[in-house]
Amino acid sequence: MPLIDEIDYGTPASASEAMVTLSIDGVSVTVPEGTSVMRAAMQAGTQIPKLCATDMLDAFGSCRLCLVEIEGRVGTPASCTTPVAPGMKVTTQNDRLAKLRRGVMELYISDHPLDCLTCPANGNCELQDMAGAVGLREVRYGYEGENHLKQQKDESNPYFTFDASKCIVCSRCVRACEEVQGTFALTIQARGFDSKVSAGMAENFLDSECVSCGACVQACPTATLMEKSVIEIGQPEHSVVTTCAYCGVGCSFKAEMRGEELVRMVPYKDGQANRGHSCVKGRFAWGYANHRERILKPMIRESIDQPWREVSWEEAIAYAAAEFKRIQAKYGQGSIGGITSSRCTNEETYLVQKLVRGGFGNNNVDTCARVCHSPTGYGLSKTYGTSAGTQNFDSVEHTDVAVVIGANPAVAHPVFASRLKKRLRQGAKLIVIDPRRTEMVKSAHIEAAYHLALRPGTNAAVMNALAHVIVSEGLQNEQFIRERCDLDAFQHWVDFVLQPENSPEAVEKISGVPAETIRGAARLYATGGNGAIYYGLGVTEHSQGTTTVIAIANLAMLTGNIGREGVGVNPLRGQNNVQGACDMGSFPHELPGYRHMSDDATRAIFEDLWGRTLDPEPGLRIPNMLDAAVDGSFKGIYVQGEDIVQSDPNTQHVAAGLKAMECVVVQDLFLNETANYAHVFLPGSTFLEKDGTFTNAERRINRVRRVMTPKNGGYADWQITMMLSNAMGFPMTYKHPAEIMDEVARTTPGFAGVSYDYLEKMGSVQWPCNEKAPLGTPIVHVDGFVRGKGNFMITAYVPTDEKSTARFPLLLTTGRILSQYNVGAQTRRTENVVWHDEDVLEIHPHDAEQRGIRDGVWVKLQSRAGETTLRALITDRVAPGVVYTTFHHPNTQANVITTDFSDWATNCPEYKVTAVQVGLSNGPSEWQTEYRGMTEKSRRIAGKATGGKEAAE
Ligand code: SF4
Ligand code: SF4
Ligand code: SF4
Ligand code: FES
Repeated sequence: MPLIDEIDYGTPASASEAMVTLSIDGVSVTVPEGTSVMRAAMQAGTQIPKLCATDMLDAFGSCRLCLVEIEGRVGTPASCTTPVAPGMKVTTQNDRLAKLRRGVMELYISDHPLDCLTCPANGNCELQDMAGAVGLREVRYGYEGENHLKQQKDESNPYFTFDASKCIVCSRCVRACEEVQGTFALTIQARGFDSKVSAGMAENFLDSECVSCGACVQACPTATLMEKSVIEIGQPEHSVVTTCAYCGVGCSFKAEMRGEELVRMVPYKDGQANRGHSCVKGRFAWGYANHRERILKPMIRESIDQPWREVSWEEAIAYAAAEFKRIQAKYGQGSIGGITSSRCTNEETYLVQKLVRGGFGNNNVDTCARVCHSPTGYGLSKTYGTSAGTQNFDSVEHTDVAVVIGANPAVAHPVFASRLKKRLRQGAKLIVIDPRRTEMVKSAHIEAAYHLALRPGTNAAVMNALAHVIVSEGLQNEQFIRERCDLDAFQHWVDFVLQPENSPEAVEKISGVPAETIRGAARLYATGGNGAIYYGLGVTEHSQGTTTVIAIANLAMLTGNIGREGVGVNPLRGQNNVQGACDMGSFPHELPGYRHMSDDATRAIFEDLWGRTLDPEPGLRIPNMLDAAVDGSFKGIYVQGEDIVQSDPNTQHVAAGLKAMECVVVQDLFLNETANYAHVFLPGSTFLEKDGTFTNAERRINRVRRVMTPKNGGYADWQITMMLSNAMGFPMTYKHPAEIMDEVARTTPGFAGVSYDYLEKMGSVQWPCNEKAPLGTPIVHVDGFVRGKGNFMITAYVPTDEKSTARFPLLLTTGRILSQYNVGAQTRRTENVVWHDEDVLEIHPHDAEQRGIRDGVWVKLQSRAGETTLRALITDRVAPGVVYTTFHHPNTQANVITTDFSDWATNCPEYKVTAVQVGLSNGPSEWQTEYRGMTEKSRRIAGKATGGKEAAE
């Protein structure tokens, strides 16, 4: 496959529907009003030389290379900043223009190092290209005058360099940081000859505000900002478009390669989720794929105290299958189960649930969505009829009021955050509901109109109070409710929401949010135009997670903010394929497409195709599997791509459950924490090594394309599941994941129109995609709710049982940081650790002072469930009484602290509220000591199996 060279039209497309016809070099061209002459020329097939313009950024007009002549106008205007006009006659090429352009280029080149042959950008440099395009053959000024050639290189960023000697001060980087990323980390300092690009106040990149998104690197037309990987490996030769495997935004990238070696990941401008932008994780943090700690050979051991033994694929698969069969023969059909992964592809997830239902003969299959967005599925299906978000990301461009609840997209969904911030800079308003003062509350050039800094655990109460204000002040959308919603349910709900305990004054006492702030936010959301709600795990990971999702759905119906662009209810999915994992039937009670196991007609579809009778009874959820293991009735598990020891609540209980099993099969890239309890280790493949699809938070099905051969001997994860299934006696014969998607399409109505050929043609498609919606469905519930009438449901606030007491007076809440991802298995194995090499505890100065805690000291964090130690970070980002930490590092183990409480409807754990005490620490906790011992032992054991490679590290 050749290197994909995306066309740069020079300036962004105009959204106008009015069309304008003009003539360019005698060729007639018709374009939308507001299009630049430069872009119109490109569309007519003429590339006007340019340096400061690129179509990801607004035109700036500084380099003067793009000048043209326009009949009837004096001078030579810049084509990038000149909009088209009807009947305009443009000349882009004549002797006068050529001479002027050569003069401009001459000045640039006279102050540029003449090292093209050894420059890493050689062959892929716009300055070089433009010098050729304008026919520059000599520089009359010589190279001896005053110049910038001795400027220092800034190599502080782990992923890219800044070589100021090559800078032409076109300011594309500065504008990319402002317009695309929204961080405003770069400036042009000084003026004229002395002007230069600077990160922050003349700091280096690493110490500046830069978040390493790479937008400036992509925008730079020279080798000034350059990926270190390109400098080391050389310019790429071919590329493949694929999808990021980190968060639920689902950014499209060009994986640019030399042979089998990945050179860089470049965000794809045609990517319909990211529109050419990226964050540090997808753009740069892919080095884990080649990390020395990857396990590449299958291993087995009879007991977890024994050393691992490297074996052939055949032996490992045969051993796992024989063990599972033995266990079922001894303890019964329901004594084993499987866990699917939200990091794996749709096709791989589909196969795991198929193996469990058809091959194991039970429904003991679950997924990590259990611990994140299961309340979303339940809450939205009960109110609207679909277990997914309602909009596409483009919709935010039409939003007037955005409400962000329990989410910090700036760190967890950074590309969406950039798009939202752009809209805010255009004048949209923002309401943030979050116990912490996150980056969304205030950062460069944006500030929330309201920040409802509620006490952890009181989301539902605050949502009820917002609804109370809207109804009591008559701000609801009567017409929408009358036409689209169940009126009996609505009336019943109105009676509930108007009760005095839902008034802002009553809720102020519970939540700590001033009543007036609640009133102001409610009025703004109800009357400010298109209102869109975006929410995350700060909503779902509560004992009332489902209640709050329903309350959000109620609020959107109440104000008519559903079913068109700019509005909606948008869960920001955590992992890349958490939406897909749920769609593909990962839950123990549902077949693909969210159809209950008890539904005879649905079961019949799969029974006919698979030739097996399926159990109509739902199987065990993850916590139930672990409980049953501790009780002795559940004995074997197949875990694909999940690290439940680190990601599930109450670590000790998870460990006890796994220890009690007789066969734990872990399929992963690394010996993760769960593998400490495994008997069979099957080395997995990275997203770079396989074909498949991921479904992002917008329900968008995006292709994942194999760019290199799997390093584990050639097996993608779907092939490994297939081998296990065949060994279990449940035959699977797929030759390519496309065939698995064809089976999904045959069996699941919302996917009926999806195939790899169709995805190739469309780029991506949002489900439902079928006869009724052949082009997919960017926005759902447009003419009516999927369930028929929108269903208002009662959402009474019930305080969590996890209460702060004299012994545990603080409330711990948890979250993420930009540079790390989830349990950190991938990002900890990249240079991203320079930004976050340990989890720290954020504590308010007041709480710290009371406890004699200084910034940076080790503190003991203790809950009813357990204790851990970590360093303190004193900050007023958290309110007094609240502490906060991340969960990216296994040696901190925040989940040792979290409790067993969970959502009433879905068992989603209550990660976001734990009563804790914090005090000075005198050493690691008992768990940490035990964990470190176990990790060292496991590395030694792995080291023996891998010929000392692991142990040496
Ligand atoms: S660093 Fe690159 S993009 Fe920025 S001003 Fe210099 S040449 Fe232009
Ligand atoms: S990497 Fe991103 S945040 Fe950093 S300076 Fe460049 S555009 Fe700005
Ligand atoms: S982590 Fe998310 S926002 Fe970042 S590049 Fe990947 S998909 Fe995009
Ligand atoms: S490209 Fe138009 S002025 Fe630089």
